[in-house]
Amino acid sequence: MKPKILVTRATFDELVEKLRERFDVEDNQKDDTPWSADELRRRIADKDGVLATGSDRIDVAVLDAAPRLKAVCNIAVGYNNIDLAACTERGVLATNTPRVLDDTTADLTWALLMAAARRLTESERWLRGGNWIQGWKYDRLLGQDVHHATLGIVGMGRIGQAIARRAKGFSMRVLYHNRHRAPRSAEKALGARYVTLERLLKESDFVSLNMPYSPESHHLIGAKELAFMKPTAVIVNTARGGIIDDAALVAALTERRIAAAGIDVFESEPKLNPGFLELDNVALAPHIGSATRATRTAMATLAIKNLTIALSGKRPPNLLNPEAWPKRRR
Ligand code: DGY
Repeated sequence: MKPKILVTRATFDELVEKLRERFDVEDNQKDDTPWSADELRRRIADKDGVLATGSDRIDVAVLDAAPRLKAVCNIAVGYNNIDLAACTERGVLATNTPRVLDDTTADLTWALLMAAARRLTESERWLRGGNWIQGWKYDRLLGQDVHHATLGIVGMGRIGQAIARRAKGFSMRVLYHNRHRAPRSAEKALGARYVTLERLLKESDFVSLNMPYSPESHHLIGAKELAFMKPTAVIVNTARGGIIDDAALVAALTERRIAAAGIDVFESEPKLNPGFLELDNVALAPHIGSATRATRTAMATLAIKNLTIALSGKRPPNLLNPEAWPKRRR
């Protein structure tokens, strides 16, 4: 008998076909509608493993509905959708997909940073709106220079470092803040200087947020922190919704207390604070930080590897809760 697995959201067909060679697969390939909590509990009840995404809440109720579940493997580096403590208590292994998406997410961070700095999405809306009647104009859509400016990176993990490496090409001064200071050799290689969060916010022309979401990072950037920023500054979030207090950001952008923002992730996504949609000075994207075919393939392939190894009784490479290993379900 093949182990039974659940794939909660559509992934590339060829990957699901490969999964069928080893597993009895229940998938969501046809409609890809996110399942309600009830639906997820019903479908997971007889499963040995699940390939989940950031939009599936794997909480106590879901885990209690799945007495045979051995592994929850996220197709994501973030794992704030999984109750890790509850998994550990029940001997369920949890995994994520680190490293494979670092460069792709850093690329999108730069795309949003530059779009917000140079008012690109606003320019396109203006153009499509039939507003270009007068020819070239000296002071039309003036933005911020990126080159030689100061970039503040909050969260100097792998993605933060990939963003810092790209800043070299723009001759930028790089400041960073992180829970733990990086070794001097890493700071030197990245050309980045460690400062307090307050100093980073006060001195940076561009601020990029790159840490996981957790109770500690919830609303790390709120009204008080936004007030530290320069009126010409731009903030970019490709990490997780909830790290910025969206209502406070909308207020700061509306009142031009900061110049602009580039935002890929939102509190309560897919619902947006409606204020964002009224603003010209924000470049918006629908959580596409890692969305290239190559990177999404690499993420799903790594998640499948974690699942296959876990269900064969071995320790998966990207285990998030090593404390669960000694009491894993067999
Ligand atoms: C991640 O990997 O955490 C991305 O946000 C995609 O969900």
